[in-house]
Amino acid sequence: MRKKYLMTPGPTPVPSEVLLAQARPMIHHRTPDFEQVVRECVEGLKYVFQTEQSDVLLFACSGTGAMESAVVNCFCAGDKVVVGYNGKFGQRMEQISKTYGLEVTKLEYGWQKVVDPADIAAYLAANPDARGVIVTQSETSSGVLNDVEAIARVVKDYPDCVLIVDSITGIGAVDVQTDAWGLDVVMTGSQKGLMLPPGLAAVSVSPKAWRACERSTLPKFYFDWKKHAKSLEKDTTPFTPAVSLMIGLAESLRLMREEGIENIIARHARLAEATRQGCEALGLELFAPAEGRGNAVTPVWVPEGLDGKKLVSIMKNRHGVTVAGGQDDYAGRIFRVGHLGYFGDFDIITTLAALEMTLVELGYDFEPGSGIKAAEKALIG
Ligand SMILES: Cc1ncc(COP(=O)(O)O)c(C=O)c1O
Repeated sequence: MRKKYLMTPGPTPVPSEVLLAQARPMIHHRTPDFEQVVRECVEGLKYVFQTEQSDVLLFACSGTGAMESAVVNCFCAGDKVVVGYNGKFGQRMEQISKTYGLEVTKLEYGWQKVVDPADIAAYLAANPDARGVIVTQSETSSGVLNDVEAIARVVKDYPDCVLIVDSITGIGAVDVQTDAWGLDVVMTGSQKGLMLPPGLAAVSVSPKAWRACERSTLPKFYFDWKKHAKSLEKDTTPFTPAVSLMIGLAESLRLMREEGIENIIARHARLAEATRQGCEALGLELFAPAEGRGNAVTPVWVPEGLDGKKLVSIMKNRHGVTVAGGQDDYAGRIFRVGHLGYFGDFDIITTLAALEMTLVELGYDFEPGSGIKAAEKALIG
């Protein structure tokens, strides 16, 4: 037997309290018992999204479903939108928008640069009739953190333009002040900072986004926000919900409230910093730019001459530690350590120990123990 450690940016580990809650006997969804679960989920989600003004809707789907729901509910075919991106998931928003016939302008930054709010400002100045700005807050493929607060300041001046934020690996890892910053649509998925298995997605909808929804003519059925909001008024869902996942969500949200959102974000910042310091002490180079490194995932360049796929495979198969490889052009060239959700200090230490043992096996020249030492120092503070 080998003990396993899941260090990927989704799915992420699930606390035992949540696993046990999900294992309860099935209940029917048209009952007062389940209405209570719905209430707890919505109230808890509003807490972690830091919103009182927005509605938060829940769907039985993966994060991509939430992304598609944002496009079909906010726009009409032919609407102008700008998508700013620096990784695979931002590009997905461009693809979804094009699929539904929007007039898409892309601001593509490569995978190692942050989205520049000045570029969004320039786009909107030249296109004051634009209906949407779409950005990924925490780009999981590249580890880049975009400054959605600054982007929101730009979009605020355009009353008919909504800001849509993919915070699928942001919520529960970095600060997301939906109301205070003026984010119109924020999306997350259950298998990330919410510490659940995959299968649920949540979307917040601001009053401005509801106005966009009123004029939207794109086709929708399952993802029709209005249907979901109407059901939520009665603490229910329009279709059969993912009952067990929602019972688990009510429990994970209870744990999150107990820890407090500020403390959760601070814990993630600490773990991310320790991971970065540990890797750098090993002589490894961080992938994301210094001005935009998120708390959810740390991508690291594989040292010259080493096989990145082998590195990931040895960590998993020999040491039981699963980290993620690189995606698209960066497959085999970077590896990504996830630390979002149910993670603590010793997950980072364990991962760095496994990384060091793997690097020894691959013949990389470094001082064993130096990564752990640096991480420990960062954690002690
Ligand atoms: C930032 C981001 N956006 C979107 C997605 C897509 O979510 P899903 O795979 O749950 O459909 C992911 C998944 O990893 C993600 O990290």
